[in-house]
Amino acid sequence: MTKILAIDTSCDETSGAVTEGSRVLSNILWSQASLHSKWGGVVPSLAKRAHQERIGWVINRALKVSKLTPSEVDAIAVTVGPGLAIALEVGIQKAKELAMKYNKPLITVNHVEGHILSVFAETPKHKVNISFPAIALVLSGKHSDIVLVKDFGSYEIIAYTIDDALGEALDKAARMLGLGYPGGAILEKMAKMGNANKYGLPIPMMGKESRFVFSYSGLKSAMWRLVENEKPLTKEKIYDLAASFQDKAFKHVERLLIKVLDKYKASDFLFGGGVSANLEIRKCIRGLCKERGVKFHIPYTKNTCGDNAAMIGVASYFKYKKELFVKPNDLDEVERIPRARVDSLFPWEH
Ligand code: KG4
Ligand code: ZN
Repeated sequence: MTKILAIDTSCDETSGAVTEGSRVLSNILWSQASLHSKWGGVVPSLAKRAHQERIGWVINRALKVSKLTPSEVDAIAVTVGPGLAIALEVGIQKAKELAMKYNKPLITVNHVEGHILSVFAETPKHKVNISFPAIALVLSGKHSDIVLVKDFGSYEIIAYTIDDALGEALDKAARMLGLGYPGGAILEKMAKMGNANKYGLPIPMMGKESRFVFSYSGLKSAMWRLVENEKPLTKEKIYDLAASFQDKAFKHVERLLIKVLDKYKASDFLFGGGVSANLEIRKCIRGLCKERGVKFHIPYTKNTCGDNAAMIGVASYFKYKKELFVKPNDLDEVERIPRARVDSLFPWEH
């Protein structure tokens, strides 16, 4: 079975993984969250330096855990976009070096495709059975995308965000409440203790769901005004504000998904990205799928919900089978594509 050493440095996690087919042999993550937290968001120059410092370590560790040497893998895979340009460069540079040194084919992967296919990641205890067409929902710090998956490598974007991504909006709300960065997971904890109906925040795009876009700027502004009015914040207020914001933010996803599931008939639903770790939104979407007889899939562990290299390894396996390699002579053509779209090929794949 094909063994792949995969790398992702698209944002603020430095990650290396080894996969065998769609099985994850190792998935090593070095989070930069604490480095960026005091700035309330990712600082590109700090991210780049931290990736440079850690990349060698995560790759060695991923190989060690999988008990393989670089000569024993069949290919090197790397994220080339979308993501932070100077962060992506670090992983790409390393992947090219390894491909040349060990004479291995290089596979370039779209980060959103990685999140979509992250649900295919298997372990000895977790087997996956997915059919197409499928609907994929990627909710992360940078993306709110709904994608029709016709086959591996064949994607149609159904919905996208016109301003903030959901994870980004959750992070900003958490910041308004003084909860730190990244805030999605902390907001979830606070929300559990609060009353979602205490405050009258708006559900974004109410009645306009057939436009098939996400938008969080209005909800974010309303939250900002509300938080300012409620200051000084008590614990109880924070719980209720967190619950209210999360509830309205998720209702927007739910209402849009109902439209999508009614329009596009799919057998399976794939949910990935950092926000897919949230139990509340999982429960809601699982319910929607169940009512419609659609099989619901999530990544097998929290580490494969957010940014990680295992999903890049899994996604690259399907490209490996189609021999979508970068030819040795074309290695120089490979570069970061910060705004890469999941429905398009990379220039060197044409
Ligand atoms: O996929 P990811 O690691 O990075 C991007 O590709 O952007 O997603 C990170 C996002 C952050 O906004 C973070 O707050 C959010 O995922 N997140 C969560 C949870 N865990 C992480 N949001 C809601 N609930 C969670 N439990
Ligand atoms: Zn991501």
